[in-house]
Amino acid sequence: MARKRKGDGQTALVTGASGGIGLDLAECFAKDGYALILTARSEPALKDAAERLGRKYNVAANVIAMDLGAIAGGAKLVAEIASRGLSVDVLVNNAGYGIAGAFDGSQEADQLGMLDLNIRALVELTHSFWPGMLAKKRGGVLNVASTASFQPGPFMAIYYASKAFVLSFSEALWEEARGTGVHVSCLCPGPTTSKFRERAGTDKTRLARTGTPMPSMTVARMGYRAFRKNRRVMITGARNAFMARLAPFVPRRTLLGLVRYLQTS
Ligand SMILES: NC(=O)c1ccc[n+]([C@@H]2O[C@H](COP(=O)([O-])OP(=O)(O)OC[C@H]3O[C@@H](n4cnc5c(N)ncnc54)[C@H](OP(=O)(O)O)[C@@H]3O)[C@@H](O)[C@H]2O)c1
Repeated sequence: MARKRKGDGQTALVTGASGGIGLDLAECFAKDGYALILTARSEPALKDAAERLGRKYNVAANVIAMDLGAIAGGAKLVAEIASRGLSVDVLVNNAGYGIAGAFDGSQEADQLGMLDLNIRALVELTHSFWPGMLAKKRGGVLNVASTASFQPGPFMAIYYASKAFVLSFSEALWEEARGTGVHVSCLCPGPTTSKFRERAGTDKTRLARTGTPMPSMTVARMGYRAFRKNRRVMITGARNAFMARLAPFVPRRTLLGLVRYLQTS
């Protein structure tokens, strides 16, 4: 008889699963037997991922291609999941993007779009699935924030602020869920190999020139393990963790100047 895996009988919904950290998080869950619901906008990439992971780990893998950043995108996804008779035990809120540059001169639609995807859709999905998790006393939420969560980010202001929201919201939910059996973890990666930098336009910043990005699978494994252990916050890499923990003790003006230096070229 096949050995029972930790996730057997449970389903993980992973947003932003067409590539990067989300795709690798989906693999971590599938490896432990979780059925998958994969969502992002790129349907061919999602279908390839579902086919590969479903076969490799012998799990059901469903694809729902959609724009989560669209208004009511989260509600549409929830309705589609229900109409297919699927349920969600673990919600992985990973989809997100950043845009580098001064706030002045930026496109309003891009800035608001970041809030819609990084915050609004994340809250919408969490609000929908949270009561079911508490009722079942299992499962939980793994949110992907960033090392950007720990200080304001001049020249990437909305992105940093959106990730500060994700960290704060996640920690508060962790406390609300304490003792219920429901897990909440916030994964805070530093620079990671993915398409993020290309979309964000951060290739030329000083930050991009310091150090080597961490492979996305390494980041995903750290996030997955943290979630399994119900670790409140997981900052990837010793240097990133040190900097994030130090931030509250650095005078704010100095910190702002440092981030300005790192976020410009
Ligand atoms: N890479 C880094 O250095 C880094 C560092 C810290 C935190 N993070 C965070 O990690 C998370 C994953 O990013 P990544 O590094 O893996 O970047 P990525 O390779 O660009 O992946 C982003 C994922 O989000 C999806 N997505 C983007 N816009 C979407 C939309 N409107 N609707 C639905 N899905 C959408 C993308 O798929 P489609 O394009 O197919 O829609 C893709 O699957 C993000 O929240 C990011 O902020 C990344």
